[in-house]
Amino acid sequence: MNIQEFDYQTAFSRNLGWLTETEQILLKSKRIAIAGMGGVGGTHLLTLTRLGIGAFHIADLDVFEQANFNRQAGAMTSTLDHPKAEVLARMAKDINPALDLKVFNEGVQGDNLDAFLEGVDLFVDGLDFFAPQIRAQVFARCRELGIPAITAGPIGMGTAYLIFTPDGMSFEDYFRMAGLSVEQQYVNFLVGLTPSGFHRDYLVDPQRLNLAEKRGPSTIMACQLCAGVTGTEAVKILLNRGPIHPAPYYHVFDAYRPRYRRGRLRWGNRGPLQTLKCKLGYRQVARLLAAPARASTDAATPELPKPLATILSQARWAPSGDNTQPWRFEIHDDTRFTIHGHDTRDHVVYDLRGRASQIALGGLLETLDIAAATHGFRCDIQRRLDAPENRPTFDVQLIESPARSHPLAPFIAARSTQRRSMQRRPLTSRHRDALEAAVGPDHYVVWLQEPGERRRMARLLWDNALVRLTTPEAYPVHSSIIDWNAQYSTERIPDQALGMDPLGLKLMRWALASWQRVHFLNRYLGGTLLPRLQMDLLPALNCGAHFVIVSRQPLTIMDDYIAGGRAMQRFWLTATRLGLQFQPEMTPLIFASYVHGQVEFSRESKSMERAVRLTRDLQALAGETAVRQGVFMGRVGYGPNPAARSLRLPLSKLLTSSGHDKTIS
Ligand SMILES: Cc1cc2nc3c(=O)[nH]c(=O)nc-3n(C[C@H](O)[C@H](O)[C@H](O)COP(=O)(O)O)c2cc1C
Repeated sequence: MNIQEFDYQTAFSRNLGWLTETEQILLKSKRIAIAGMGGVGGTHLLTLTRLGIGAFHIADLDVFEQANFNRQAGAMTSTLDHPKAEVLARMAKDINPALDLKVFNEGVQGDNLDAFLEGVDLFVDGLDFFAPQIRAQVFARCRELGIPAITAGPIGMGTAYLIFTPDGMSFEDYFRMAGLSVEQQYVNFLVGLTPSGFHRDYLVDPQRLNLAEKRGPSTIMACQLCAGVTGTEAVKILLNRGPIHPAPYYHVFDAYRPRYRRGRLRWGNRGPLQTLKCKLGYRQVARLLAAPARASTDAATPELPKPLATILSQARWAPSGDNTQPWRFEIHDDTRFTIHGHDTRDHVVYDLRGRASQIALGGLLETLDIAAATHGFRCDIQRRLDAPENRPTFDVQLIESPARSHPLAPFIAARSTQRRSMQRRPLTSRHRDALEAAVGPDHYVVWLQEPGERRRMARLLWDNALVRLTTPEAYPVHSSIIDWNAQYSTERIPDQALGMDPLGLKLMRWALASWQRVHFLNRYLGGTLLPRLQMDLLPALNCGAHFVIVSRQPLTIMDDYIAGGRAMQRFWLTATRLGLQFQPEMTPLIFASYVHGQVEFSRESKSMERAVRLTRDLQALAGETAVRQGVFMGRVGYGPNPAARSLRLPLSKLLTSSGHDKTIS
């Protein structure tokens, strides 16, 4: 459109109705200062421009970077490394070419504050959360100059906002920041802004807040809500529409919960409850600053050639029993490498014949194939027949083949284990068909999904858990595989992913410190009841179906288990693709294979006897062939993704220069 053709009245005519023509003309004559052109400030500018405000002062000293893309209106591939204020000025002028815009590319500072606030009717805060000092300074100067000011913070998937009028409570009286350390000022600002912490119970990964690097989680929805409420308050303030509720009133609107609260803090942060919240906040901040930063598990491995590094980096997301990742990669050149597998039979009672590790290795090979396909390769994989049985070794050659996508590739890293209750809704027949097709022609699926079957399975798993928890040989496994107080773990299973409640976890941690404690609790205090209830019985009842993946041929050699592992991984990735949750329930099958193979897995005769009974019950429920030729067993169902999960070792830790012993770090 030719800029001469731009017509203010037409451009903003659809505001009329909610605004009168006179009010619209008045808005055109208003000048607003916005500090910060990031997620919140940029959206403020565009929103207020579309409201028809005629003049702005905008300030930001930053340039756009990729990490801004999720929420900042001006962050685009075309504006990367461009100054934020310049970009937003261009965007706003693209909406209203007649805008009177003053750009402060040096940001707001003490020495340009008066120029920034000169002649403005309203100040809108879009400053970085981590800039509390300049924020306090701007608000103080606004008060001196008689300028009303609004601050709206993007909180979770909502907004918390405050209005400061020249004759109301001051910013400093409300937040009480003077004399505090910068970190304490963060706390006071947050606690004052959001006295109702609606957002807290849906923060799924608290560790994403990194105070040291001044970065925290933030959503576009919250930024847009900030601009929505601020635009609305601006209408009321600039047009004297009132009533507004300035500080000490606070406003919190959470779209996720969804809830709105307006409250009044007569003493601001000096009130007794706010003081207590601030004190608790200081402690939490001190803890956060002391905690080591989470290491990225996806850190690139620069020494490796590119497609190979990416393929291996994806393949390492394959699942393994207790997250042991029993594999290391020896790289020969751009397209050739060796996988040195090992099993854990020497110390894991569930892997006495290495079968669980072989299944995991099968899963790794399948993941490798899928990852390679998306990069235009197929894998030629040869198992070394002369390698020792407990060290399965594979030579892999990547061979170029026409690039194609693989439907399961996007789900490699998203696939995970859900050990908590799922919905009981049965699987749709379309989903069941897709899962059955996923295992391929050499395997089939036995479903146990009728309510009666699920109940019998729950009973069986309840009995099975008794064997797990009372077998002394299982104790070293249980006591070493859990990462305590963890949401994520790169080498083990984080306690929060086990499916127990926090109190149960505390008890379990105490008990697992020694076999004597476990034994004592089990014997005299019914110590197995709580974990069996929370980790076995309830999840087994609460799912869509239990399943067994069965081989059509008897399972005799390692390759049969590797093939089973491949089928498992296709099934599991397909479940993820269909939005289903998944948990393996492998120990009944493992005990059954010990019974059939007459493996003496415990010195405890009771455990051996119970395993025999379990095997009989499983055969009665799933059928004799399913138990003898079953490679994998578990449950699936609809429900949310787990909030806690195992991660993987970084690729650099999975590389070996020759065989198993050395790792390159
Ligand atoms: C062969 C095999 C057996 C497993 N057995 C069980 C099991 O009996 N119970 C369970 O909760 N998880 C089991 N898992 C899941 C692993 O603990 C899990 O995959 C691993 O910790 C990685 O976590 P992720 O799946 O969330 O990535 C098994 C996984 C594999 C590959």
